[in-house]
Amino acid sequence: MRQMTAVILAAGQGTRMKSSKPKVLHEAMHKPLIKYVIAAVHHADIEDVCIVVGHGAEEVKQTLGEGYLYALQEQQLGTGHALMQALPLLPSADSLMVLCGDTPLLTAQTLSQLRSYFDESGAACTIMSAILPDGGAYGRIVRNDNGEVASIVEARDASPGELAIQEINSGVYCFDREALSAVIDKLAPNNSQGEYYLTDIICELRNIGKKVNAYVCQDADEIMGVNDRYQLSLASDILRERKNTALMLSGVTMLDPRTVYIDDTVEISPDCIIEPQVYIEGLCRIGRGCHIGPFVKITDSVIGENCEIGPFCYLRPGTVLEDQAKAGHFVEIKKSRIGRGSKVPHLSYIGDADVGEKVNIGCGTITCNYDGKHKYPTTIEDEAFIGSNTNLVAPVTVGHRSTVAAGSTITEDVPEDSLAIARGRQHNIKGWTEERDPRYKNNDESQGK
Ligand code: UD1
Ligand code: CA
Repeated sequence: MRQMTAVILAAGQGTRMKSSKPKVLHEAMHKPLIKYVIAAVHHADIEDVCIVVGHGAEEVKQTLGEGYLYALQEQQLGTGHALMQALPLLPSADSLMVLCGDTPLLTAQTLSQLRSYFDESGAACTIMSAILPDGGAYGRIVRNDNGEVASIVEARDASPGELAIQEINSGVYCFDREALSAVIDKLAPNNSQGEYYLTDIICELRNIGKKVNAYVCQDADEIMGVNDRYQLSLASDILRERKNTALMLSGVTMLDPRTVYIDDTVEISPDCIIEPQVYIEGLCRIGRGCHIGPFVKITDSVIGENCEIGPFCYLRPGTVLEDQAKAGHFVEIKKSRIGRGSKVPHLSYIGDADVGEKVNIGCGTITCNYDGKHKYPTTIEDEAFIGSNTNLVAPVTVGHRSTVAAGSTITEDVPEDSLAIARGRQHNIKGWTEERDPRYKNNDESQGK
C-alpha cells in the first residue's frame, strides 16, 4: 500500500449551527465531532493527519492539541480552497484521504475498505458515495453512459434531473497525490456560492484522462454530515445506539436502551443491569453484576463488582465504589471512596471522603466538606456506623467500629470503638401546650361543663 496522509477539512464556520463555536467542536455524546473523524482515521491505520483550520482556528487547535499538522485557511473560500492550503505542508505524501470534520459516524472499517478499493483499482481518485432515497443537500454523483463517474454536482447547482440522482457524495475521497497536484490549481469559484468546490476536481481529473471511480458505502448512516443542530441530535442518537448495542451484545442488560446515555469512553462488564434514564459519562469503569437503577448519573467514576446504585443517584468525578458497595436513592457522592460492602442507602451527600469497609451511613448524613473557601477530607474507618442525619464537619475522622448517634454534628475526631453523641439533650416540659394556649386547658371551666 502507498503511504497515505489524511486531510480533515475543518475550517468552515458552520453557519447553519447558528453558533459562536466552530461547528467541528460541537459535541455528540460529549465528544467534539472532529474527534470522531480523527479516531476513525487512526483506527484505519492512517497515522499522518493534517487538519485544515480557519474559523476559530485557535480554539480548534487548542481542543485537539499537538500531534497533527495544521494548515491555516485564513479565508474560507470553499472545500477545494481548503485542500489547496494543506498540500504545501505534505510534500512526501503519496496519496491522500480527504475527509470533512463534520461526519462523526464514519467507521474505521469503512475507511479501510475505501482505501483498499482505491489502492486496488489504481484510480487517481476514489470518491466514497452512498445511496439515499432523497439526496437532500448532498452533492450528486453524475455517471456517464458507461457508468463511470463523470462529475459531482452540488445540490444548489443541480438541475431537477440531477437532483433526482440517488447516489450522493459523502465528502470523503482518496487521491493520488501527483494527479491531484496536477489539477488543483484549475479549480475556479464559478458556481452559485462563489466558492472553490473540491467536488469540481472530478471533472478536472477526467479532463486530463485520469481514472475516477466511487466506492459505495453500504451503511448510508455513516456518511451523515452534521450541518445544523437537528442533524447533531440525529448523529448523537446513532452514536448512542451503537454504544448501547455493543454493550448489550457484550452482556449488559438494558431495560430501555432508548433512554440510556453512555459515553464511548465508558467500560461496563457483563451481567450489569441498567434501568431507564441512566447517564454514564466520561472515564468510567463498572465491574460485573452491578445494578444501576433509574435516574442515575455517573461521571468519571470507578465502580467495583455487584454494586447497587440508585434510583436517583449522582456519582460525580472521582467516586470509587468498591465491590458490593451501595449508593442508594437521592445520594450524591463526589471524589470519595466507599469501601467494600459499605452502604450509603439514602439522602446523603458524601464529598472528599474516604469510607472504609462495611460502614453504614444512615439516612440524611452529610459531609460538611466546604467552608466557603477550602475543601476538607472526612475519614470513616472500617465497620463504623453513622446514625441518621449526622453532619460530619470536615476535616474529621470517625474511628474503626465506632458509632455516631443519630442527629449528631461531629466536629472532632471520634476514636475507635467509641460512641459519639453530639446533639442537645432532650428536655420534656410537661403541660407546655396548655400553658401556652388556654383553650387546651384540661379543666371543667374551659370545657363548659
Ligand atoms: C460538502 C460537499 C458535498 C458533500 C457534502 C458531504 C463540496 C463543495 N460539497 O458539502 O458534495 O455531499 O460535503 O457532507 O465540497 N470547509 C473548510 N473550508 C471551507 C469550507 C468548508 O475547511 O472553506 C470544511 C468544513 O469545515 C466542513 C467541510 O469542509 O468540515 C465540509 O463543508 P460544508 O460546508 O459542510 O460542505 P457541504 O455543504 O456539506
Ligand atoms: Ca457538511
